[in-house]
Amino acid sequence: MVDISRVLVIGATGHVGGQVVTQLAAGGRQVRALARDPRAASLPPDVEVVQGDLTVPETLERALDGVDAVYLTWPMLSAQIAESVVARVAEHAHRIVLLSSAAVRDDLGEQDHPIGRAHAVIEQPITESALEWTFLRPGGFATNTVEWAPQIRAGDVVRGAYGSASMALLHEADIAAVAVRALTTDGHAGARYILTGPAPLSRVEQVEAIGAALGRRLVWAEISPEAAVEHMDWLPPDMARVVLSGLAGLVDAPGTVTSTVHEVTGSPARDYRRWAADHVADFA
Ligand SMILES: NC(=O)c1ccc[n+]([C@@H]2O[C@H](COP(=O)([O-])OP(=O)(O)OC[C@H]3O[C@@H](n4cnc5c(N)ncnc54)[C@H](OP(=O)(O)O)[C@@H]3O)[C@@H](O)[C@H]2O)c1
Repeated sequence: MVDISRVLVIGATGHVGGQVVTQLAAGGRQVRALARDPRAASLPPDVEVVQGDLTVPETLERALDGVDAVYLTWPMLSAQIAESVVARVAEHAHRIVLLSSAAVRDDLGEQDHPIGRAHAVIEQPITESALEWTFLRPGGFATNTVEWAPQIRAGDVVRGAYGSASMALLHEADIAAVAVRALTTDGHAGARYILTGPAPLSRVEQVEAIGAALGRRLVWAEISPEAAVEHMDWLPPDMARVVLSGLAGLVDAPGTVTSTVHEVTGSPARDYRRWAADHVADFA
């Protein structure tokens, strides 16, 4: 049994990392959070916040001092930075849990998807290090649907492409719950956990679920993929096209569903309706 008393969370201000911080602190662990701008990070008061930036790996030294385990969000940086970050983490910590992506494929020598490629860049040096590692490979996050918030605040119609595309989106609290198990308990070394929500829901049904949570009747209006790119101004157009082509592939073939969240945490994954109820404030 490895004693993990202090955990560094990299990506602590993010959707999943924020939940990892909250859940670790609630479990009585010492949590240190990395932030590029600690003054802008709003984290629980008992959490130590240390400044650092993955693009400048030497800035991680202070945050890594005295840490047993690291939770890492990977903002898709270069292979050179990945190697340097992993080497530094391995000098201090014993264990790492990486938030990777279901786009990574183990059956390919060369990754065929840009998001898979970007995460393989960090998975590779981790597997070659002395660290005890666990990879979380989630499918789509429910938080992606906050992209509809401006339309929902403005009216009852949500315009988008591929409304019939179905997927089992994940609640960020469930991804974090798996991370916390892998960080703080034994038995997860070398696991590549494919994570999904409990059941697929089409995008039309997701919009209806947000409406139900808000007590409103929201309707979907189908538009062309090219028109949808303009609504997705939170992503560079080429990345928006990658996301849309992923959705096109889910129209007649709902994505994979796994029970890994339940198996690892002992609790079933929260469904999208629960996520919408938890996120009413994001759409109001
Ligand atoms: N969205 C999906 O459907 C999906 C699916 C599978 C996998 N993923 C993966 O999940 C990850 C995103 O997770 P998330 O949604 O929890 O994060 P997020 O909400 O997008 O937040 C990103 C986090 O990364 C930190 N960060 C960014 N650049 C950094 C840098 N140079 N140095 C240090 N920290 C940096 C940010 O910290 P600051 O406070 O410093 O800005 C922030 O805490 C990505 O790797 C993505 O590919 C996403």
